[in-house]
Amino acid sequence: MEQIVLQSPFDMHLHLRDGEILESVAKFTAQSFSGALVMPNLNPPILNVEDALAYQKRILKACGDENFNPMMSLYLTEKLDKKELQKAKEKDILFIKLYPKGATTGSENGVSEILNTKILEILEIAQELGLILSIHGESNGFVLEREAEFHAVFAELAETFPRLKIIFEHLSDRRSIAVVEKYDNLYATLTLHHISLSLEDVIGGALNPHCFCKPILKTPKDKDALLQIALSAHKKFSFGSDSAPHLQSNKENAKGAAGIFTAPILLPALATLFETHKSLENLENFISGNAQKIYGIRATDKQVKLIKKPMTIPQVIEGIVPLYAGKTLAWSFG
Ligand code: DOR
Ligand code: ZN
Repeated sequence: MEQIVLQSPFDMHLHLRDGEILESVAKFTAQSFSGALVMPNLNPPILNVEDALAYQKRILKACGDENFNPMMSLYLTEKLDKKELQKAKEKDILFIKLYPKGATTGSENGVSEILNTKILEILEIAQELGLILSIHGESNGFVLEREAEFHAVFAELAETFPRLKIIFEHLSDRRSIAVVEKYDNLYATLTLHHISLSLEDVIGGALNPHCFCKPILKTPKDKDALLQIALSAHKKFSFGSDSAPHLQSNKENAKGAAGIFTAPILLPALATLFETHKSLENLENFISGNAQKIYGIRATDKQVKLIKKPMTIPQVIEGIVPLYAGKTLAWSFG
């Protein structure tokens, strides 16, 4: 049977939550990936090194695989200071995550004025320490323009801190590609959903809350342009799933939680997508090689085997509706 072996995949943007949900979802990522960059937007958020290390322990326990590497991030607020950032570096916590206040799930404690003196001071220290700044890049303007309206902030930060590595997370708008290409210190992640779906899938038929996320899926042209970047394994872009589990009830009732759960299906879905577009040979760079170079992380000896055998995705997994529920992929785990 036809098969592929993927060497040391990384998911560079992941929500694992805490408590029961963490216990039920961690294994999906640990089975498929060597490591993942874990987002800090818990409730309350991960604001300091002590909390990040405690959370990392809970993650390792939940996934039951000590070879899995959960790379931790700190939630950026004005309370971060030099001492804490130095401690982070010592403990190998190399990422800080900037959420504009109110932009998405768990951003209530985010930054309301990004270019203020205190935040700029923190970023200066992050630059000196060689930390990596990960950004949810959206303004609070009209929903389809939010990412584009944020470009000026990326430009300002990339120019002010030329030695700071900045990650433009989950690109959703094709106009953002040129911004990433323009600045040497700016990189990006791409999700499975933003390269395979558009707003049509959210509101084109019956409203589909399971395709609702922030940034919102955009036009088919945006999807196609981002897909081409992924298929060519463009060196400035790595894979970050933004898998964001919310219980089915919290997606379907009036809460309307934003976030798409993809962790259990990622590699078979990516293999199916890349094969459909005759680009299977670039998949490993997209999910591993690029991340190693961009983030300076090392491959592990983990190998994930996929086989050319149909895989039908369950309607519900651990109380959560996954992306592509009920659909059949061409590839499955070997
Ligand atoms: O749709 C989203 N869900 N976007 C985010 O940025 C956060 C995520 C979540 O935590 O649920
Ligand atoms: Zn996210």
